[in-house]
Amino acid sequence: MGVEIREEPVSEEAFAEMEQFVHDYLAASVENEEEGGRMRWYPWHSAEYRFNHILNVAKLATHIARKEGASEDVTRTAALFHDIAKLEADQDVHAEAGAEIARQYLEAHGDYPESFIEQVCTAVREHSYQGDLTDMPLEARCLMEADLLDKVGANGTVLMLLRMGYESRTHMDANEMVGRVLERGEDAISRVVSDTAESIAHQRIKRVRWFKEWLEAEVADMEPVEPPIDE
Ligand SMILES: [Fe+2]
Repeated sequence: MGVEIREEPVSEEAFAEMEQFVHDYLAASVENEEEGGRMRWYPWHSAEYRFNHILNVAKLATHIARKEGASEDVTRTAALFHDIAKLEADQDVHAEAGAEIARQYLEAHGDYPESFIEQVCTAVREHSYQGDLTDMPLEARCLMEADLLDKVGANGTVLMLLRMGYESRTHMDANEMVGRVLERGEDAISRVVSDTAESIAHQRIKRVRWFKEWLEAEVADMEPVEPPIDE
């Protein structure tokens, strides 16, 4: 019998260190900038929200990877780094910048095989690709599906409702905002490829629909807004 080679090269301790690195990197990106730069009062522009989103995506992506037979370590590592540059780089280059940070980190910490580093960096670099997800390597696809899923469901609804406050809208606009979460959910369903991600998307859309129905039932004059057509 030959020596068994571990396919998954990242220890739990190494993951915890990466998580801390990503957390501190995001916090520093916000601290170092000049005042009045970006709208940090928008929750999704804050370091705290971004880190939380990254943890959600890492958890979802790892689950999808396990079910779909992708490398969990590649997927989870890529998920941790995917938005690391989001607060310091422009949207259209944040994926590329994130891949560069991931490469530097992985080359300097531990003894990861080049093939592992390359797979992680590819997933991070490609994660904002807007085309067909079947064009992507499996691990990148798991990450992208998880990224889409975090914007729908209860969490996506909370974000939209927070946004209403920041935009000084009245609570009577709630139905319209929740309707937008449903639209995002339909968009997510049309893009995800794996059965695992699709069933999570359906479950999350169902929760948003319930919330919308409860809202219409409880609030006088809350106009029902036509939900998008479910394919
Ligand atoms: Fe993301």
